[in-house]
Formats: sequence, C-alpha cells, structure tokens
Amino acid sequence: MSKETSDFRYNTGASTVPWAAVGENYNAEDTYEFVKFLMGGKGKEYNAALKEVKAALAKLAKVSVAPGKLSMGDKVSEVERMVDKYLGAEEGSSLFVSNCTAALEMGYRYAGIGPGDEVIVPANTFIATVAYPLSVGAKLVFADVERDTVNLDPKDVARKITKKTKIIVPVHIGGYPCDMDAFMKLAKKHDIVVMEDAAHAFGGEYKGRKLGTIGHFGCFSFHEVKNCTSLGEGGIFFSNVKEYRAEARRARFLGVDFRSKIHNWLYNISLTKGKDGVTYQASNNASVTEIQAIGLMQQIKRYSKVLAARKRYATYMTKRLSGIPGIIPQDLGNEDMKLTFHLYQLQIDPEIVKGDVQLLKKKLEEKGVTNIPHFGPIYRFSALLDSGYNEKKIAATCPVTEYVFDKCYTHLPIYGLSKDQLAYMADAIIASIAEMKAGK
Ligand SMILES: Cc1ncc(COP(=O)(O)O)c(C=O)c1O
Repeated sequence: MSKETSDFRYNTGASTVPWAAVGENYNAEDTYEFVKFLMGGKGKEYNAALKEVKAALAKLAKVSVAPGKLSMGDKVSEVERMVDKYLGAEEGSSLFVSNCTAALEMGYRYAGIGPGDEVIVPANTFIATVAYPLSVGAKLVFADVERDTVNLDPKDVARKITKKTKIIVPVHIGGYPCDMDAFMKLAKKHDIVVMEDAAHAFGGEYKGRKLGTIGHFGCFSFHEVKNCTSLGEGGIFFSNVKEYRAEARRARFLGVDFRSKIHNWLYNISLTKGKDGVTYQASNNASVTEIQAIGLMQQIKRYSKVLAARKRYATYMTKRLSGIPGIIPQDLGNEDMKLTFHLYQLQIDPEIVKGDVQLLKKKLEEKGVTNIPHFGPIYRFSALLDSGYNEKKIAATCPVTEYVFDKCYTHLPIYGLSKDQLAYMADAIIASIAEMKAGK
C-alpha cells in the first residue's frame, strides 16, 4: 500500500493510514457556488458564460487534487512574507490574524494590562481599539485630538501619563499619519508600549516609514470596508519586539506554533509570556484560512493602484473645495506624510459657515450623499457608559474632541465612486455651505 501525508494540525509525515487535515473537501459544484457569489450577474450573456464555467470546473475536477490544508498552511506564511516585504520589514514581523481587534489584543496582552492599569487611547476612535482593555477592566484614559488632523494629540497624552500607564494607542484616523516621533519619545522616557492602531492605514507612511511599523506593535484591518481585504475579514499583527514574535505566533492559536515540529499537540499548548517576562497568559484563537491568505495576496498585488486612485479622487475633491471660505478640505499630505485616503475627511469653520457640521450632514443626506459615522467620541458609547465611565467628566478633559465632532468634522466616501458621483458630492457640499451662509 502506498503512503500518504498526514497533516492533522501538524505534519506527522507519510503513513499508510493517514489522517488528513481536511475532513470534507470542496468539489466542483461547491467551487461553482463560490464563483457565482464572487462574480454575480444576470442576463443571457451572464448565464451563457456561467454555463461555460460550470462545464470547465467539472472538467477540472477530474484532473485536479484538493488542497491538503484549508487553515493555517503555507499560503498564510506566504502572505506574511509578502506583507513584511511590502512594509519594508524583516521576515517574521507580520502575523496574519482573524481581524484587527484580535491583533490589538495581542499587543495589549504583551503590555500585560489588567484591572488598575491605564491605557491611553484617542478620545475618538472605533470601539474595537478599546475592546480588550474594556473587557479586562483596565482603565481607559482618553486623550484629546488635534484640531486639524483629529488624531491623538501627543501634548495631551504627555499630560495624562501616570505611573500606571502601560500602553499608548495612536490611531491613524482615516489613514492620516499620527505624530509618531512624539509618541515614541514619550514611550522611551516612561517605558511605555506604543501600539499603532493602523486599521485604516495599510500602506500609509510617516517620514519614510510605513505606518504600523514604527511603534512596538502595529495592527492592520482587512475587513471588507478597508482599502484592501482578505475575503471580508482579516488583520495583521506587526511586531518590532523580536522576543514577542514567537509568543504572538503561538497566541494566534491557543498557544501552539504550527511552524515548529510538534510532538504531541495537546500537551505542547502553552501559555504566552508578556513584557515583564513573568506574567503568562492563556491565548485566544485568531486563526485564518488559506483562502483568506490568497484573497489578501491578490489584493496587495494591485494595491499601489488602489492607493493611487484614492489619492486621485481625494485630490479632485480637495481642489473643488479649496478657496471656499469656511470649508477645510482633506489635507493631501506630503513626502513625510503619505495618507491612505481610507475616508475623505472634511471640516468646516462653523463661525464662517454660520452653522455646524450636524446641519451640513443633514443637508448632504437630503441631497443623497451618504454619511455613515465610522467613529466618534468613544466615551459616549453605551458600552463605556455601562462600564461606569462618566461622559461629562471625560468630555471636560477632551475639549477639542467635543468641539470638532459636534461642530466641524465629518468623513465621506471616496473610493469606487464614478467621476459623476464625485462631482455631485463636491457640488452638494458647495451648495449646502452656500445655503448655510445664507441662513437657509
Ligand atoms: C480604528 C479601528 N480600529 C480597529 C478596527 C477593527 O478592525 P477589525 O474589524 O478588523 O477587527 C476598526 C474597524 O473598523 C477601526 O476602525
């Protein structure tokens, strides 16, 4: 009898009675359903083309072999090497995980935060940034944002650092780079971990370095709404802390690293070690699939074109909106600050416009321009209020956040719009501002 490769969780070598990793493989009909889902359509021409695909897949099924692994295999390692290269980092820095929230959890675990420890986050972000510290009962300290960038303000962070501060989490909002030099200086002085929430910022740059690669850690999101995706969900945990890379690799699946030879996978599951070298923690499961890895690799291959198109669209909008008193269009960056244009960030001067951004948002909605808030003052979220955070007290320590989010700031869609849609959006903003100035 011939021998086949066994690969249940880890490769046990060739054997006569193998134990395959994949219990039930996908066949031609299943694959056809995937094609129909990813490339939907209707009409005579579509149906005819689909028929050809079905026949071709049936033919292919007769001569092809199913993959030996669907989860955590070679493709996952391949996309990690690709991301390392893209980010200009050494091999082993990037870890492909289920989402950015899971990546953030890995950095928080390194910092070893628990009840009583303080975590400094921007007053405006998405709840995912703070999900882990909130769940373990650490204290969230909200630092104010800068008026023009709506990013974390290093001056306010400096004011809010205490002996209990363990980690600072700058968020590159909308793909606009935070002032990383200032945070790294503070971190060095106080021995604090810096973790970049680069969920919006894959491919952006600060002073020649890719965002997400400057702090101790960086976390990226490949959720479907982001600039590129790994089939709808995914993230990268990037580590500059060499000694934590192997720990994080094991933390991705409950404490096992499949890359090294495992003799008994049940008993090789171990706790992971954090910054203090003493605290050991049980890990979670943030595994990813081979198909997700392929999805991400394909998108990264054309990513420079995606970023260029986003920049082109934003440049058009900014040109249209420049020179109109009261409108502060999205800053387009420069050699030191390269944006990802995940969102088009727009501000107004409420004094000049004679009205606040809430009125502008209403007017834009009436004109058919979609406004979906992605983030806002996080201390207003019910999850925070129900955890005992006092909105009024925190708001008083974040005056810029209060002012900017109530009166000045909104973000708009930018990518995938046609020329006509972009022109319509610019016209709608200009017309709405004119109406507000006229008191209408
Ligand atoms: C600022 C920020 N951080 C983290 C996340 C979480 O990303 P994911 O959905 O990949 O967990 C998001 C998601 O939109 C986000 O906007």
